[in-house]
Amino acid sequence: MHNGKTYIVTGAASGIGAETCRVLRADGARVIGIDRHEAEDVDEMYLVDLSDKDAVVKLVADLPNDTDGLANIAGVPPTAPADVVLRVNLVGLRALTEGLVDKLADGASIVNLASLAGNGWQTGLPQVKRALALDFDSDISEFCEVEDLDSSGRSYFLGKEALLVWTFQNRWTWRDRGIRINAVSPGPVDTPILGDFAATLGKRFEENMQKLERAGTAEDIAPAVGFLLSDQSKWIRGTNLAVDGGMSAHFLSAQHGF
Ligand SMILES: NC(=O)c1ccc[n+]([C@@H]2O[C@H](COP(=O)([O-])OP(=O)(O)OC[C@H]3O[C@@H](n4cnc5c(N)ncnc54)[C@H](O)[C@@H]3O)[C@@H](O)[C@H]2O)c1
Repeated sequence: MHNGKTYIVTGAASGIGAETCRVLRADGARVIGIDRHEAEDVDEMYLVDLSDKDAVVKLVADLPNDTDGLANIAGVPPTAPADVVLRVNLVGLRALTEGLVDKLADGASIVNLASLAGNGWQTGLPQVKRALALDFDSDISEFCEVEDLDSSGRSYFLGKEALLVWTFQNRWTWRDRGIRINAVSPGPVDTPILGDFAATLGKRFEENMQKLERAGTAEDIAPAVGFLLSDQSKWIRGTNLAVDGGMSAHFLSAQHGF
């Protein structure tokens, strides 16, 4: 499925990103990793802070032309300061993607790691639109203060909601070049940041975990990212693929009474 392809994977040093690198390489792909920390299972590595505008601009200039896909997996949990959450999970991700798209090969695939936490995007749409107006030149700290994101604990949810909406919006943006964009939304996954979600969500986290027979693992998520990167998913565009043990179907069923 991936033989002869070259993919760029952010968040390559840990958790879902590291497992995605492993899966892609095991299937014959060449993988360029991006992270703040060194990654083990990559062919080439760029050590970059994706919350930093200048670093992202330099990264875009340094990355090679004609890669076959970009998996935006790097992310910080809700326990990080709100402005950092938005910088990494939304603003930096978009700056990297929009900067890189001209350099991607025709037919390339972009996959965004969103989350079950983004499912409420319809409810929060006005705020989502305001978040989508942010870029690196915006005063992101002021935005977080005005929107009360630190004390409300909404930064992570808002970032993922906006990421989903941005994915839907760009379903056909690069269609003339065959470039696609999709999202993968995991439920709770056993990686180093699972405890951060437990700390933020408290009782809600425990209730959700009781409904699931277990937390997901990086091994549950990486194949879905690999599929959306591959040519096998060519007709899938602007989709959000839930990989959550059934949690989103459970919430929908409860919401609509079936
Ligand atoms: N673990 C879960 O329960 C869960 C659930 C839903 C979605 N997600 C999403 O999955 C993605 C991967 O998370 P994970 O669970 O594998 O966590 P993780 O902490 O294991 O991996 C995240 C990686 O992102 C990197 N990163 C963070 N900030 C960075 C920055 N400023 N610049 C460069 N790299 C940076 C980290 O160094 C780390 O290697 C994230 O986007 C997260 O929001 C995770």
